Amino acid sequence: MFLTHLECSACGKQHDWKRLQNLCIACGKPLFAIYDLEAVRKLECNMRSSLAEREKSLWRWRELLPLPEDVEPVSLGEGGTPLLKSKKFGGEVDVDLWIKDESVNPTQSFKARGMSVAVSMAKFLGARKLAAPSAGNAGGALAAYAARAGLEAHIFMPRDTPRANVIECRETGAHVTLIDGLITDCGAEIAKRKEREGWFDVSTLKEPYRIEGKKTLGFEIAEQLDWKLPDVILYPTGGGTGLIGMWKAFDEMEKLGWIDDRRPRMFSVQASGCAPIVRAFEAGEKFAPEFPDAHTAASGLRVPKAIGDFLMLDILRKSNGGAIAVDDEELIRAMREVGSKEGVFVAPEGAACFVALKKLRASGKIDIGERVVIFNTGSGIKYLDVFNA
Ligand SMILES: Cc1ncc(COP(=O)(O)O)c(C=O)c1O
Ligand SMILES: [Zn+2]
Repeated sequence: MFLTHLECSACGKQHDWKRLQNLCIACGKPLFAIYDLEAVRKLECNMRSSLAEREKSLWRWRELLPLPEDVEPVSLGEGGTPLLKSKKFGGEVDVDLWIKDESVNPTQSFKARGMSVAVSMAKFLGARKLAAPSAGNAGGALAAYAARAGLEAHIFMPRDTPRANVIECRETGAHVTLIDGLITDCGAEIAKRKEREGWFDVSTLKEPYRIEGKKTLGFEIAEQLDWKLPDVILYPTGGGTGLIGMWKAFDEMEKLGWIDDRRPRMFSVQASGCAPIVRAFEAGEKFAPEFPDAHTAASGLRVPKAIGDFLMLDILRKSNGGAIAVDDEELIRAMREVGSKEGVFVAPEGAACFVALKKLRASGKIDIGERVVIFNTGSGIKYLDVFNA
């Protein structure tokens, strides 16, 4: 294993990876996993050239993930998802559009990536009971991976979370508590009780390894596009783990000599009813204040306050990208448009990115012919409630 230590993303303080860790003990910000990339680079059997023979799951990137070599990961075959070339939508807005379809993951969303790595490490380091607040898909993934690992899962969800997510969590053995409030209220409930209950908190960015699973999105698109990153990435943003993880992956790949120093312009796509990152980006702020009265049918985007806000805002600015909000009516309408044009029943969060693409083309922030990757982070099938209204 090439993991050497954990480092605070804000103050740089180092932490030992061999102990279960949540946030930085000095400043309370997220911790990042740091690897000996020089050693990976020098490996006798060059890692990149052996990829073709490896398993399809995200564990094919083993040298760039935590977990000692002789420990079996908790896996359901996550990752290795298709990057689909758009059939119609891209041509209609004059861009070279690709769709990273994460709906084919175990539990039908990209949350499987983060949970596979986080649950693997938590189990290895001795955790027995895992807890997380969830807007829906993270809960489903935690329930499944905890069941697979033989660990307890305690999941707190807003009462109006899509029904499919709640049922899925219960049927895969999790203890589910519904809260009259938002994901932030669910997180506060866990923080209050975790000590007494002996829970290890696997909330977004509050432990170091979900982001490691999510960073494999960055490795995969690089490999699938022949090691040339796209011009633009559109990412439906709640807590921002995928955005932050991909950016970390780009840095690691550059240090390994796999890619050059060019980066895609990264755009956060949010819902108009909950757009803290869009507001803070536009206001030139370093942190994003809590968004009042958060509401949207794209439940994964209903995150009024994110602990990784400063990391996201920094990435959007450094990459020369931006942040854009989309109305619920538009994103729900886009589900049918994308479904009928591309054959993918996208999640509302993924659909939001297609609306954002049209807007960014219209405003000239994306040029004709640019290569754009959209992340469809989940499956429309979990959101049937949206169509009852
Ligand atoms: C389908 C879907 N897309 C996007 C998101 C937002 O992801 P992130 O927290 O990585 O920003 C979520 C989070 O719940 C989700 O379920
Ligand atoms: Zn710190």
